[in-house]
Amino acid sequence: MTASDGYLLDNRQTEAGRRFDALSALFDPTTFRHIEDLGIGPGWRCWEVGAGGTSVVSWLARKVGPTGRVLATDIDTSWAVSAARLPIEIRTHDIGTEEPPGQAFDLVHARLVLVHVPDREKALRSMIKALRPGGRLLIEDADPALQPLICPDEHGPEQQLANRLRQGFRTLLAERGADLSYGRRLPRLLREAGLRRVEADAYFPLTSPACAALEAATVRQIRDRLVAEGLATDEEIDRHLSHVASGTMDLATSPLISAWGRKE
Ligand SMILES: C[S@@+](CC[C@H](N)C(=O)[O-])C[C@H]1O[C@@H](n2cnc3c(N)ncnc32)[C@H](O)[C@@H]1O
Repeated sequence: MTASDGYLLDNRQTEAGRRFDALSALFDPTTFRHIEDLGIGPGWRCWEVGAGGTSVVSWLARKVGPTGRVLATDIDTSWAVSAARLPIEIRTHDIGTEEPPGQAFDLVHARLVLVHVPDREKALRSMIKALRPGGRLLIEDADPALQPLICPDEHGPEQQLANRLRQGFRTLLAERGADLSYGRRLPRLLREAGLRRVEADAYFPLTSPACAALEAATVRQIRDRLVAEGLATDEEIDRHLSHVASGTMDLATSPLISAWGRKE
């Protein structure tokens, strides 16, 4: 898959920055807690796969300091590029098709990336190959099938419309090869790949301003495809966006499954 054909939420679209800000507000505290628990410190060499925006790479850079290294890769690095100063290095790289861009990393992390990668098995192998013995892998991915509703409290027509549009989004993702039950498989996949001390947990916000910002940006980004494929009308999308903007909807996210382990 390249940035231009398969990935639904193209980073070159103007809404991508708003999505990265919302993902950061929603999930950075969870990600940072996990990476702290894995023992990050000065001098660590980290590979951030599918980096997207700047918040995770900038935080990693502060943690590893001038003696460490943070390699940030993505198929489209346009949003991460503003973080490019030592110890951060930015490179264009497709995790599904290319060899790892380095080795002997202390930490490899990917958040909300593998679910979109057609050859996610190869991607996982590549990330493990890039670790030093004893290095830590942290994979965080959504499991939309575990909790498919954007409005779990579906108490009126606004919430029903929101859930129908969310179903349309899932259809578009699945058509492009996304595995909508990937998150739950991660602990087993990490263990089967030979990692030790594998653990996992899940987190999902039930309502917050960042959930609303993420929904508005996502729907704007995919609206043409929803309409083109007959999954929604322009009128429904406008109505939904005005409900979201009203601030009266309780909008959730898919659960984020975090799974981690160590290479022997
Ligand atoms: C949903 S965003 C998540 C961004 C960031 N990791 C975060 O959690 O905020 C998915 C990111 O994965 C990148 N991506 C998609 N397919 C990829 C691939 N095959 N190789 C590398 N990056 C990829 C996208 O360009 C995008 O930046």
